[in-house]
Amino acid sequence: MNIEKTCAIIKPDAVASGFTGPIIALIENSGFVIKHMEKKQLSTAEAEGFYEVHKARFFFRELVDFMTSGPCVIMVLERQDAVAAWRDLMGATNPAEARLGTLRNLFGADVGKNATHGSDSAENAAGETAYFFPRD
Ligand code: RTP
Ligand code: MG
Repeated sequence: MNIEKTCAIIKPDAVASGFTGPIIALIENSGFVIKHMEKKQLSTAEAEGFYEVHKARFFFRELVDFMTSGPCVIMVLERQDAVAAWRDLMGATNPAEARLGTLRNLFGADVGKNATHGSDSAENAAGETAYFFPRD
């Protein structure tokens, strides 16, 4: 058993559209335990720091503007193989390419406003968790 944690975010588009409840229901139905959860609006500095790895990308400013546009819900989820399982539940980055029934298929609008974030490795999950929940 590889019980691990991942960092998940319900992004501002999904929160503003009233999808927090349905997304949390799918999270719990998929066997994740919510270890931490906080609703907050990120500052520009917090969003820039979180997406530091993308700072040279053409979409960086758009991404930071979007992620600070309203409150999001930040969570730490625990489950067997949580990193891969959460990315599987989210679906592809572009909602138009996301598998039917995934969160981005159901709730994402476009490649930028794609409803959720998920860590892409156990190492990054630990870093992202410490970024938002430094006392964990
Ligand atoms: P995330 O980090 O949010 O879980 O998404 P991801 O791994 O599937 O995708 P990543 O390549 O890490 O991109 C981070 C976020 O940047 C926005 N994006 N916009 N306009 C664009 O072409 C574009 N490409 C990426 C998305 O919000 C994406 O989730
Ligand atoms: Mg990513």
